Amino acid sequence: EAEIRKGLPLLGKKAMVTAGPTYEAIDPVRFIGNHSSGKMGFALANELANLGASVTLIAGPTAEKATTPMQRIDVVSAADMLEACLAHFAESDITVMSAAVADYTPIDVATQKIKKKDEGFSIALKKTTDILAQLGKLKQKDQVLVGFALETNQEEAYAKEKLEKKNLDFIVLNSLNDKGAGFKTATNKITIFHKNLEKTSFETKSKTEVAKDICAQIIKLLK
Ligand code: CTP
Ligand code: CA
Repeated sequence: EAEIRKGLPLLGKKAMVTAGPTYEAIDPVRFIGNHSSGKMGFALANELANLGASVTLIAGPTAEKATTPMQRIDVVSAADMLEACLAHFAESDITVMSAAVADYTPIDVATQKIKKKDEGFSIALKKTTDILAQLGKLKQKDQVLVGFALETNQEEAYAKEKLEKKNLDFIVLNSLNDKGAGFKTATNKITIFHKNLEKTSFETKSKTEVAKDICAQIIKLLK
């Protein structure tokens, strides 16, 4: 085994990956969530582990299972995910944030099931912490930090804005415009924007293949 693993490019590196959605509780039976399947994050975690990295996968609610041995931490809400990320970031050489974190969470969580009434109903929300931006502030020179951007319009401008604002090494733009791309599909069409604003475009591929492309960029940065 030791012989086989010798040639692996990420041997000795620690990687942290976030995956899936977060669920923000409204009451004991309801939540605010999104359509993220977790597939992209799990593909990334598997690929990083296959390349020799020691992986911590921080996963929101998902049916996905990792196929390579790794440490998995299951979380539910954006606040839980933040806590897990802060606990593991300092030791991570590589961090890839592919989770679809809720941007808002209910201000109050009802302790009993909310009963329906005759009128309409609204829930007061507050912003969650931007986990990736927080990590961008803590990032040291030798740490690689990668984010995702999911956009439906003005994608390039928005992706570049996030790249800079969150202090990333590169950002992976996921095009929802493309037929073969998105939350529930097995494929994605990505474009990577690098810190120096260089751009790398890729064809529509399986999420496993997309994960390989992303890892190749990470390996380049570590050299
Ligand atoms: N992200 C995060 N914590 C949040 C929101 C987003 O860590 N509370 C991360 C995501 O994991 C992703 C990146 O930030 O890597 C961009 O997420 P996205 O939802 O595309 O962008 P936002 O900054 O939330 O802006 P908006 O939703 O308005 O486009
Ligand atoms: Ca968001």
